[in-house]
Amino acid sequence: MSVSDVPLLPSSSPHLSYALPTMKSHSSTLIAALALCHQSLSSPTYQTAPDHPSNGICTDYKIEKTIDFAELQWTDPPFKTSFDVVDLYARMASKDPAVFRPFAETPRNVSKTYEISATFCRPKNGTDAGEKTVLVATHGAGFDRRYWASSYLPEKYSFVYHSLEAGYPVFYYDRAGVGASSRTLNYTAQPEPQIQLLASMVRDIRGGQYTDSIKASKIVLVGHSFGSFVSTGLLNKFPDLADAAVLTGIAFPNPSDIVNILGKYALTVFGGRLISDVPSSSLPANADSFDDSHVAFGDIYSYAQAFLHHPQTAPDVAVANYTFSITQPLPVSEFASLGNIDLRAPDFAGKVLITAGQYDVLCGGDCYATFDAGVQNTTIFSNEGAVVETFVQPGAGHGAVFQEDNGARERIFGFLGSV
Ligand SMILES: *[C@@H]1O[C@H](CO)[C@@H](O)[C@H](O)[C@H]1NC(C)=O
Ligand SMILES: *[C@@H]1O[C@H](CO)[C@@H](O)[C@H](O)[C@H]1NC(C)=O
Ligand SMILES: *[C@@H]1O[C@H](CO)[C@@H](O)[C@H](O)[C@H]1NC(C)=O
Ligand SMILES: *[C@@H]1O[C@H](CO)[C@@H](O)[C@H](O)[C@H]1NC(C)=O
Ligand SMILES: *[C@@H]1O[C@H](CO)[C@@H](O)[C@H](O)[C@H]1NC(C)=O
Repeated sequence: MSVSDVPLLPSSSPHLSYALPTMKSHSSTLIAALALCHQSLSSPTYQTAPDHPSNGICTDYKIEKTIDFAELQWTDPPFKTSFDVVDLYARMASKDPAVFRPFAETPRNVSKTYEISATFCRPKNGTDAGEKTVLVATHGAGFDRRYWASSYLPEKYSFVYHSLEAGYPVFYYDRAGVGASSRTLNYTAQPEPQIQLLASMVRDIRGGQYTDSIKASKIVLVGHSFGSFVSTGLLNKFPDLADAAVLTGIAFPNPSDIVNILGKYALTVFGGRLISDVPSSSLPANADSFDDSHVAFGDIYSYAQAFLHHPQTAPDVAVANYTFSITQPLPVSEFASLGNIDLRAPDFAGKVLITAGQYDVLCGGDCYATFDAGVQNTTIFSNEGAVVETFVQPGAGHGAVFQEDNGARERIFGFLGSV
């Protein structure tokens, strides 16, 4: 079955599922005819490691991975001005899929080498060694691994800090493209290599690598937004690699959900400005390491519209300020290719917790209704053995970890205790 048969995709990544041919629809003869190209991706100059949480014993890793995959080939003209970006966004949001076909019909087999910058932390007051459930966290678009480990009021906003308090070691990394990992240049950013890179690191972690003195007895994938899509894509392709998943900032609407239309516009608030058009005061320090296939939020209000539900008090604005300062540019091709992954994981028989802020844009601003439709059970994690739980974080938007907790942590760590 191809991804375009999946009803949920229009919601999360509306434009894509209509507009794109799927990998699975390409004939293997065509794919076989494609040339294999090999390319080594240059490392960015930005090497700042995130602050380590005070309650962890942390090790930074540089992980080099070469992966083979069928890469979508971008065919739209490169952006020259921000008007080109807003035009692309307008076409992405159109009801008519024919106006948005940015990729060639046939992908190309490539072999690419990436350097991934990662951090592993184990609890300071835990045991030095031994078997533990390890969390493997993948951030979403617009951020790097610092999404999980806010150094601003960590006891309020750092997922890693709280995981360590609860006794869970965490492996978190900059996805290829951002932070201190290799860049994905020239409209090549897309989910498939992200899934393969994550799968490869999870296999290594199972084998005892990148976890200091800890041996992973169980592995739980933790995702936010695009990182939840990547984690779900992994469970589709490799259902036995992980024991459980905590997917945050994601929702799976049914085909009649109005979010299938609204969601298209929602994505357009995620950064629609060429970096060169944004004043440096609104750009991350490493902005000049990204090429013009990346866009920036433009200003804090655009960021807040996508991630936060109405900051009102001074403390709300302070966390908005801090979290905006740790955003990263977004590669446009990543959104544009999201519909190419199959998110159904019928063979995964583990436990899943799906959680989103009440006002998350991916639910069209109402996650209670979206979760109530039950697509996450019936269509995505449909295995009889799978246990699927949902939690809506009251009052929060898409960047739920940066908003009032309102029971989210209790729910997440309660769930982890049951894995
Ligand atoms: C491209 O990849 C596909 C899928 O892995 C494979 O079947 C095909 O043989 C590959 N083509 C070439 C030219 O390597
Ligand atoms: C570690 O210490 C914190 C606070 O001192 C405590 O709440 C927590 O339960 C401890 N965790 C473990 C695994 O001992
Ligand atoms: C990026 O794509 C353009 C054409 O769109 C090409 O001229 C250029 O060489 C490419 N750059 C890299 C680094 O691949
Ligand atoms: C947020 O940042 C703006 C712009 O730098 C600043 O004027 C404002 O005082 C900050 N607000 C808080 C509460 O930190
Ligand atoms: C979804 O999964 C939950 C937890 O396993 C279960 O309680 C619920 O009945 C399921 N709903 C559907 C529609 O399958």
